[in-house]
Amino acid sequence: MKEKLIFEKSSSKHLQFVEEVKILIDREARKDNMVYQTEEALSEQIMNEDAVLVFSESRLVGYICLEYWKNYIEIGGLVVDPEYRESGIGYQLTVEVIELALSKKSDKEIIILANSVSCLIPKKIGFVVKEKNYFHSEVWELCEMCESRHKFPDCRCVGLVYPV
Ligand SMILES: CC(C)(COP(=O)(O)OP(=O)(O)OC[C@H]1O[C@@H](n2cnc3c(N)ncnc32)[C@H](O)[C@@H]1OP(=O)(O)O)[C@@H](O)C(=O)NCCC(=O)NCCS
Repeated sequence: MKEKLIFEKSSSKHLQFVEEVKILIDREARKDNMVYQTEEALSEQIMNEDAVLVFSESRLVGYICLEYWKNYIEIGGLVVDPEYRESGIGYQLTVEVIELALSKKSDKEIIILANSVSCLIPKKIGFVVKEKNYFHSEVWELCEMCESRHKFPDCRCVGLVYPV
């Protein structure tokens, strides 16, 4: 890929991209690769500076965000435009959002609930896989937004924690 990529921490100036992010996510959620996100949730993540967007020229090509639970900061919403995959963007988005999570200086554990392919990225970074019953039930609320909700706990979802 020759184009220059620009990774940006989100702010209110990125609210104009909510619809595009939602289109990218919905397409993958329908394929059971990730959970759906509402426009309200995406707008909140973006406005609260809890997301990272990546652009090629001025085209949005990827997204990742932080979501907050009582016990965790969860890294979620990772998606890369199909035309831009397998060139390191997903990995770089994950690295950037980890820095964002660490900058919160929170005692909460940093976790990722990934699918069986995307979990390769956090594994490469050093996240540790945990059994589903390791996690407080609060995080499984998101299953409501997943096509595989009826399969839980025997679904593609893999839980990982950031090593402390
Ligand atoms: C998962 C996703 C974000 C990866 O983005 P990407 O930019 O292609 O990922 P990268 O190029 O940074 O790849 C990083 C590593 O992930 C692995 N990987 C990525 N895509 C892979 C694939 N299709 N098959 C096997 N391994 C893959 C590789 O191990 C790669 O490491 P390597 O470069 O040493 O080979 C992208 O495929 C996507 O948007 N998928 C649909 C949505 C999704 O599944 N999101 C995750 C929700 S949990």
